Amino acid sequence: MQQQPPVSLSHTGFHVFDLDKMTGFYTRVFGFQVSDKAEDGRMVFLSGDPSDHHQLIMFRGRTAKTDDTHFAHVAFRVRDMDALRALAKRLAKETEVTDARTCTHGNAWSIYFKDPEGNQAEAFVDTPWHVAQPFYKPIDDMFDKTDKELEQWTDTMLNEFPTKRPFDDWRKDMAKKLGME
Ligand SMILES: [Fe+2]
Repeated sequence: MQQQPPVSLSHTGFHVFDLDKMTGFYTRVFGFQVSDKAEDGRMVFLSGDPSDHHQLIMFRGRTAKTDDTHFAHVAFRVRDMDALRALAKRLAKETEVTDARTCTHGNAWSIYFKDPEGNQAEAFVDTPWHVAQPFYKPIDDMFDKTDKELEQWTDTMLNEFPTKRPFDDWRKDMAKKLGME
């Protein structure tokens, strides 16, 4: 079994205008549980993984306007395409979500959207391949394809790119660079 990485990204935190609304959104759409909250209501901890007490912390007190350029996005890995399709269906029911779009980064199949306070978020499934980043190709009909069709389409499309390789190979090289062999 691979050893624990020397450093791993565990959680992100951001300030929000409406903590109850944002907590409702992230628990509803992503299935996160509230793992704790401050007694005075200034912050909430959310997790979807028992190995992390919190993956997302939201604090009251946001002052940055929605059109300020500051926060790029937060991305959540989803187990498989069925789970991503189910998540996209829940997202479609959220009236305050905007700018949803589907794409591949070659190494991921992703849906991007803006959450109810305009923060860009991404939910994605790993593909079996690595390709040099940044890589972006829209797939408007991503959720109309079966897993097999999506995999075949992506495999063929990536053949044009010489940096394409199995993701596991890339991971092995990265583990080496990190001294994890
Ligand atoms: Fe991303």
